Amino acid sequence: MIEVKSLSKRFGKHWAVKNTTWSVEDNRLLGLLGPNGAGKSTTMKIMTGLLCSSEGQVLIDGYDILTHPIEAKRRIGYLPETPPLYEELKVVDFFDFVCGIKSVDSSQRSRQIDQAIEKMSLQEVAFKPIRVLSKGFKQRVGIGQTLIGEPSILILDEPSVGLDPHQVVELRNIIKGLKKDHVIVLSTHVLSEVEQICDDVVILDKGEVKIQGTLQELKTGGRSLEDVFIEVTR
Ligand SMILES: Nc1ncnc2c1ncn2[C@@H]1O[C@H](COP(=O)(O)OP(=O)(O)OP(=O)(O)O)[C@@H](O)[C@H]1O
Ligand SMILES: [Mg+2]
Repeated sequence: MIEVKSLSKRFGKHWAVKNTTWSVEDNRLLGLLGPNGAGKSTTMKIMTGLLCSSEGQVLIDGYDILTHPIEAKRRIGYLPETPPLYEELKVVDFFDFVCGIKSVDSSQRSRQIDQAIEKMSLQEVAFKPIRVLSKGFKQRVGIGQTLIGEPSILILDEPSVGLDPHQVVELRNIIKGLKKDHVIVLSTHVLSEVEQICDDVVILDKGEVKIQGTLQELKTGGRSLEDVFIEVTR
């Protein structure tokens, strides 16, 4: 479970995130939405311990990301907006490198690497250097590295950005498959994607939560998610 409590982040005089409170239960997928600059990536960076909050806290399975970073981070797999891939490495070697960073026991490494390759359907490129892969495959490698260490929580910042429609559909199916074993928070601008895979939705604008609830709750009265988004972020 993830709990975001009265979270705020200030850069100089600008509040990028303002007193936001929301949570996501186990085995649920939450879409974190909002226009450009709404505070999605900043929130995710705080959730993963990459940035410190100015106020408030984030609890990961009850562990405060600031005061218990090791216990909290062990539970998290994170895909940043720009995934840091070492392009000269082959996919398998990159995953082995990530195993090292995440202190995966050597007896577990090959199983976890095989698992990441299988779950992300990377078999055909597993022994190719990352630099020769298409954008879609690179994105899958980026998500694959989040699975190393077998975290229970996945935080994916715009996982489908820049993908063609075929790859978007494929990635959506992969994320659906990951849902049964993970809590997932993903940000995206593709509202149709949210309607197809998310259980819960939080819409941010100018750092504030404008609306939150289950997808069904947001869409009451026959409104589309797009209608709701436009209305609360205008
Ligand atoms: N390191 C930083 N220093 C100063 N301001 C920042 C920094 N990072 C983000 N901001 C500002 O915080 C606000 C929120 O940015 P953030 O990247 O979280 O938005 P976002 O919702 O992820 O947007 P997008 O959809 O474009 O990815 C923006 O006004 C941005 O300019
Ligand atoms: Mg962002």
